Amino acid sequence: MLINFEGIDGCGKSTQIHLLKQYLEEHGRQVQVYREPGGTSIAEKIRSILLDSKNNMSVVSELLLFSAARAQLVQEKIIPALNNGVTVILDRFYDSTTAYQGYGRSVLPINEICVLNKMASYGLVPEITFYLRISQKLASERRLKHAQDRIEMAGNEFYSRVLDGYEKIIKEHSRFIVLDGAQPIESIAKEIRTHL
Ligand code: ADP
Ligand code: TYD
Repeated sequence: MLINFEGIDGCGKSTQIHLLKQYLEEHGRQVQVYREPGGTSIAEKIRSILLDSKNNMSVVSELLLFSAARAQLVQEKIIPALNNGVTVILDRFYDSTTAYQGYGRSVLPINEICVLNKMASYGLVPEITFYLRISQKLASERRLKHAQDRIEMAGNEFYSRVLDGYEKIIKEHSRFIVLDGAQPIESIAKEIRTHL
């Protein structure tokens, strides 16, 4: 089973993924968690290029690097894990590319990004996608605790396009389960468990 978590930076994905992994393992499931971009040696190297705030990167390079990191992770880790009956939880998947590089950067056609997303994920489609909906204000308050990476430096207008983009993506796919990310950690975790 393939599950991904989506939402803007600071919405609480990592927190919920950690709790869900614990819960599923307590119920006898084998679970692997990967963050995107990352999860393999090549993908972690690509991650450091993508997030380095010193890099001035073209939108097309950014799109292709996120996709390259994904292709590596899917082929090297996700497909073998799924073939072995492991539940794979992803901290972001191609919905992030559609939301950030597509709607956020708003220079490339969304349909072309979707074609690339399909290629980079070898046609895999998650069974469930949890979207943690949260306001930009609350997310940025939560993010204050750590240094900004290159994507986070893009600013408020970028984030508001990403948020609007996610709302459009959600409407198009029935695999999305929308959660109120402003709720306490435990209530969100409880709701997530009802879907598994
Ligand atoms: P993400 O992985 O989406 O960037 P994190 O899970 O790392 O988000 O959470 C960002 C920060 O917000 C962390 O300090 C975390 O402890 C805190 N946090 C996460 N979920 C909640 C919540 N529901 N209520 C309050 N704080 C939260
Ligand atoms: P990370 O710290 O892993 O995310 P988060 O802050 O959500 O915990 O940083 C990943 C950054 O990369 C985040 O700002 C979202 C962005 N991103 C894209 O722009 N496109 C993508 O396809 C992916 C997977 C991530």
